[in-house]
Amino acid sequence: MDARALKIEAARVALSHVEDGMKLGIGTGSTAEEFVRLLAVRISEGLRIIGVPTSERTAELCRDLGVPLATLDEEPALDLTIDGADEIGPGLSLVKGGGGALLREKIVAFASKRMIVIADSSKVVETLGKFPLPVEVNPFGLGATRLAIETAASRLGLSGAIVLRERNGERFVTDGGHVILDASFGRIPDPLALSDALHAIPGVVEHGLFLNLADLAVVAEPDGVKTIDGV
Ligand code: A5P
Repeated sequence: MDARALKIEAARVALSHVEDGMKLGIGTGSTAEEFVRLLAVRISEGLRIIGVPTSERTAELCRDLGVPLATLDEEPALDLTIDGADEIGPGLSLVKGGGGALLREKIVAFASKRMIVIADSSKVVETLGKFPLPVEVNPFGLGATRLAIETAASRLGLSGAIVLRERNGERFVTDGGHVILDASFGRIPDPLALSDALHAIPGVVEHGLFLNLADLAVVAEPDGVKTIDGV
């Protein structure tokens, strides 16, 4: 089974949690896109849902496939969000933001009663941090914010390159008009402490540690799909 087939399997199992009439947060990334494709088929067969997309990219795919959308302002309380992840750690702690949509993803997940994470088994880790942690920052005072992140991380015993994300030779700009610093700490043994430290920095808009947000992970492996419950 190739990686895409595993993503489709995880998306298929997550789709069984979607009920008629739900208000649904819809994630971003290649796994979430497989979910959108399967969801669109169910909608064409009669399933009624309203989707709130977590990025312009997801919104565009939903529109192309006929998935009905609302904004989070129109539907501020959601039943369920289904989204991918870059890492799934202990207690369903997550690293997200590899696709650059972490801020909207976190706002949408927080507005949802439940969050289901879909992934292939390569995303499951014992300790978060091998995947560089995306930190969304205001472009104003970027150098000072980067320094503050370095200092805060170092107080927690963390170090590593903190790199401004680029795409096609230009700085990557998020849907919210911010930029992203990818922090390669290698290991994040205490994600909550790092989350608190990053939130204390004014230039940090949000970071990609999703703690106490996911309720269930649906993880596809070559020999089947397993589910991991949150704490
Ligand atoms: C998007 O910003 C991310 O949080 C994605 O959910 C994450 O990068 C997973 O993407 P893939 O499903 O493409 O691996």
